[in-house]
Amino acid sequence: MTALQHVKLGTYYVVHLPEADDFDFWRERARALVQCDVPPDRIAWVEPGGSGDLFAHGERRMPVPPMDAKPVRANRRFVSLARNAILHSDPERFALLYRVLWRLQSNPRMMEDKADPDVRRVEELDKNVRRDSHKMHAFVRFRLVESEANSGEGEVGEHYVAWFEPEHHILRANAGFFMRRFSNMRWSILTPRGSLHWDGETMSEGPPAERHDAPGGDPMEDLWRTYYASIFNPARLKIGAMLKEMPKKYWKNMPEASLIPDLIAGAQGREAKMVEKGALEFEERPDTLAAIDKAIHACRKCPIGSLDNHAVMGEGPQDAALMIVGEQPGDQEDQIGRPFVGPAGQLLDAHLEKVGIDRRSSYVTNAVKHFKYVQRGKRRLHQNPGAKEIDTCRWWIESEREIVKPKLVLAMGASAARSVLGKTVSITKVRGAPIALEDGSELWVTAHPSYLLRLEGAAREEQARLFDADLAAVKARLEELA
Ligand code: URA
Repeated sequence: MTALQHVKLGTYYVVHLPEADDFDFWRERARALVQCDVPPDRIAWVEPGGSGDLFAHGERRMPVPPMDAKPVRANRRFVSLARNAILHSDPERFALLYRVLWRLQSNPRMMEDKADPDVRRVEELDKNVRRDSHKMHAFVRFRLVESEANSGEGEVGEHYVAWFEPEHHILRANAGFFMRRFSNMRWSILTPRGSLHWDGETMSEGPPAERHDAPGGDPMEDLWRTYYASIFNPARLKIGAMLKEMPKKYWKNMPEASLIPDLIAGAQGREAKMVEKGALEFEERPDTLAAIDKAIHACRKCPIGSLDNHAVMGEGPQDAALMIVGEQPGDQEDQIGRPFVGPAGQLLDAHLEKVGIDRRSSYVTNAVKHFKYVQRGKRRLHQNPGAKEIDTCRWWIESEREIVKPKLVLAMGASAARSVLGKTVSITKVRGAPIALEDGSELWVTAHPSYLLRLEGAAREEQARLFDADLAAVKARLEELA
């Protein structure tokens, strides 16, 4: 019996998802079902622990798409929203996403229809999931559970454990974030939906946990309290908003929460002092490019932001497949307010054009958002940012990557590579081959165009040839991924 006959005969398909957050599995099944013309109301999507038995009469075998099946249409916006929306705890999400995918086949522009209830619901799920991830980034608190045991290899067996209650299936999707942030610690994050364990080298997953599996309190809590008291920003104190951003349900896991009443009480005096100092803090990862743009202008997390300069935001389409990362804005970029418009930018444009990469469809940004310089008479001379400054600024490029979700990141120069990887690499060693990033994208590393500008003669020609070869490899890979 063909797939079409199945449908005509009223076959009901039941798709059992192996994991609640398995987008790739859903996508593969959804594509096949669309190609077999199976309408949304003939499919039940069942996640682990879901009500699968209700559909025991359904067809479990997947229909096989005919050889001449049309390719499935799904634009990038849908795919990027769906990847996130699938992490939502709403059991209807798989069916909703399938319905949208099904409708996209006859109406490829439907994602632009902001009034469409399906589109609105997908956007809402995406937003809720992003919010839950932000909460996790902000409110996970590790507690030290072992400090004396020696692992036998001379290393002190410190192990940090955190308890967190996510609303959605966000644990696995956020593993990379915690791995990067706490790469040198051994830690576990326990949640009622599963657990993650990092031993400093490898990540493993474990079963769901309960609150009492995690420790209650330890000396680390004093550190957190001290830290929180120092970053608490009275100038931004709005109690209603604070409760919204830091709902009380998280307070019980947060040692610093006990400080909040006192800090609020003392806020006014501190606010006056902070306004004097012009200090600003960020607490939550911004979730739009406009919010990042605004926040980097206020950023004084490192001394570069306090020079006489302006933050320069990345530019390009929000759904760009390629993100190009430089080091920091130069003198002209600082004055004009756009990345790569000075001499290095012009050289970059020429090479991009030579290999056929369209800069306008790429997102171009920098590892460090402010121009670091020393004043010499009337001239401002470029200074390389230090590792600490690059690491501090990683917050912004990570935020940009989370929003743009490029398939491929091209880091030009050692600072750019460090801002993506969190460690310094040798360009000659890593150029020419992709480095897999935790979010599924790829990093390609090449030289910075300013390096070419500093060379002359044969050395410059040789480096220009290598630069072109790297760009051409990136272009070929982008075509492969498209
Ligand atoms: N160099 C960079 O790294 N970035 C710019 O935006 C300009 C020059």
